[in-house]
Formats: sequence, C-alpha cells, structure tokens
Amino acid sequence: MHWTLARRAARLEPSAIREILKLTERPGVISLAGGLPAADAFPVEAVREATARVLRDTPREALQYAASEGHGPLRDWVAAELAAQGLRVDAGQVLITTGSQQGLDLVGKVLVDPGSGVAVESPTYLGALQAFNAYEPEFLAIEGDDQGPRPEALAAARGARFVYLLPNFQNPSGRCIPAARRAELVQQAAAQGLPIVEDNPYGELWFETPPPPPLAAAAGDGAIYLGSFSKVLAPGLRLGYVVAPRALFPKLLQAKQAADLHTPGFNQRIVHEVVKDGFLARHLPTLRDAYRHRRDAMQAALSRHLPPGCRWQRPAGGMFFWVELPAHLDATALLPQAVAAGVAYVPGAAFYPHAAQAHTLRLSFVTATPEKIEDGVAALGRVLAAA
Ligand SMILES: Cc1ncc(COP(=O)(O)O)c(C=O)c1O
Repeated sequence: MHWTLARRAARLEPSAIREILKLTERPGVISLAGGLPAADAFPVEAVREATARVLRDTPREALQYAASEGHGPLRDWVAAELAAQGLRVDAGQVLITTGSQQGLDLVGKVLVDPGSGVAVESPTYLGALQAFNAYEPEFLAIEGDDQGPRPEALAAARGARFVYLLPNFQNPSGRCIPAARRAELVQQAAAQGLPIVEDNPYGELWFETPPPPPLAAAAGDGAIYLGSFSKVLAPGLRLGYVVAPRALFPKLLQAKQAADLHTPGFNQRIVHEVVKDGFLARHLPTLRDAYRHRRDAMQAALSRHLPPGCRWQRPAGGMFFWVELPAHLDATALLPQAVAAGVAYVPGAAFYPHAAQAHTLRLSFVTATPEKIEDGVAALGRVLAAA
C-alpha cells in the first residue's frame, strides 16, 4: 500500500528538542536542554489531596464526558486571576485547553490558511513554529533588540493573520519586554490592523519584580491570550487556556470540539480544587525562590567557565539563559562533543523561523540542581574553549 501524505504532514519535522532529550537520557549527561520544570517543586501533596476530594465528592461527574468550553468553576477562576493582572475578561471568553500547546494549534487551525502571513519573533518558541507550521503559513520574522521586538518592524507584517508574541521571560531568550515597549507594540499592531496572539506561560515565574501587565490588557479585542498551568503547577496535568475575543470564541470552540471533545474533566476538577483557595499565592513564592537560586547558580557558573567572547543576559524570570557564542562557532555542530563531555543544551538554530543564528544556544536553569548546573556549565566551558 502506498500512503500519500497530506502536504501539511510533509511539512512536519521531528522536534529538535525531543530528539536531543533522547540523547540526554544517557547516564552521566547533565541536561540543561529540555524546558522541564523542577520536579522536586511539584505540589504532590496538594494534588493528592485534591484528587481524593474530587473522587469523594464528584466522582461520577469527574469521570463523565464534559463541556468543550471547560469546567465552569475553573473558567471563572481563570477570569478572576487575569482580572488581577489587569486583563478584564468574561469567563465566557475562556476556553480550557489540553495544555497551551493545544491552544497554539487551535489558533493556527482557525486563523491560518496556506500562504497566510504569521509574524513571529526571531528567535521564538519552537513549539509554536511547529504548531502553526502545519497550517502552511509564511513566517515573517520580526526584528528585535534587547527589549524585544521593535515596534516599527511590525509594519513589515501588515496583512499577516497575526503576530505571535511572548512578552514575559521569553522561551528561548529569557527577555522580558518593558512596559513602554509593550505600549508601543500594542499601538503599532493596532495601527497596522495586526491582531496579537500573546503566549504567557512564564509570567508568574518572576524573581525580583512582577512583569508589566499583559499586552492583551491594552489590546482588548485585538488580542488572543494563552496561559498554562504547566509551569506554575505541573505539566503532566496538561492544562492551559485560551482567552479569545467574543467574536472569535465560537470558532475556537468548534475547533476544540473537533480536536478532542474537551480537556480531561478529571484534571480540570483536580486543578480547580488545588487552586481555588489561594494555593498559588503560597506555592509561587517557594517556586520563585528555588528558581532564583538556580538562576543565580547558572549566572555564576557561566561567568566562571565560559570563555571570552560568549555573551548572555541574566534573565529576570522564567527558565532559560540564551547564550551567544563567538560568531564562528556552530552550536548544532558542537552538540555531539558537548554530550560526549557530559552536558546537553538546545542549539539556538531550532528557534528561528528563517536565517538561523548558528552561534546561539539555550540553557535551562530549572531542571538540574545548582551542583549539576556548575558541573554542566564547566563541561560546556571546556568544550567551547577547545572549539
Ligand atoms: C512559550 C511556550 N508556550 C507554550 C508552551 C506549551 O506549554 P503547555 O502545553 O505545557 O501549556 C510552552 C512549553 O514549554 C512554552 O514554552
């Protein structure tokens, strides 16, 4: 039998990150590659107790098919939480998704035709490039600087279906867009008639001061906003959400129905049980302290071990350092040597829609302990010094 692939399937490629994660399962390799939250910070006890309560109080409802929009009380909770960040939305605009990754896929499905323009930062989140790519867009790379995408660069994206932006502690670069730049971006996007898709899984993981309010707070109906429970609770729950303008919500809902009927109701009830009485206000400070400590350990290790010519910014939140190597070095080509030396990272090339900068790489500071970070960065320094 000859199976003819759809054009969109032919565009799908294995994720560079997943391939690398396989390599790092080898014993002795310190992985600074995958963006895995620190497992020792998972709220195991709170999830255990919440699960017991769900099974005791609403077992049959929890195990039944449920509404495609999501569990009502959880949608209410999300709307209230976002209001506290300055984003006024009605719970009716909140669609609970199977991770925010599904939200990205639904956005692509509803808004992208083959050949449509989709504007993205450069570099940007690899998983978004993958999700949108299946719908056959033309990616337009928005130039940026240390403060984020440059507002005037949005002019080149006029006519695109949307611009995908990650204002808080971006994956992969770690940078946070300052308030003034946010305002300019929202204003420019509106002037160009360009909708914004804002992805914010890392906003709560700030270490010194909270980030400015989301773009969607100022952009109103000009923005779709995506959030996630993966980085504040646990990614294995696969819970995220999309907040959409009222006019767009029914289409996203229909796409969600077609994709998987609904997000697991059992998980939604468990998460609502966990968060409903202010658990995050107690949990997040602990998580921020742990991650800040690891960020500081990596900052110190990078300063100690990386050879001259390497550049990086200390991230003020999130999970990643973005390192620029001297221009003649190729992080993809060096990866096998790094793994042989006992350390793994993600080559930066994977995060560019076009014109990959080969001399960049991403390091996660949250998965490994401070001791492992020190050893891993020391090994990386040796590989780079010999290259
Ligand atoms: C920027 C960004 N968006 C979305 C996701 C997907 O997260 P999830 O599907 O676990 O909510 C990730 C995961 O790493 C991410 O870094």
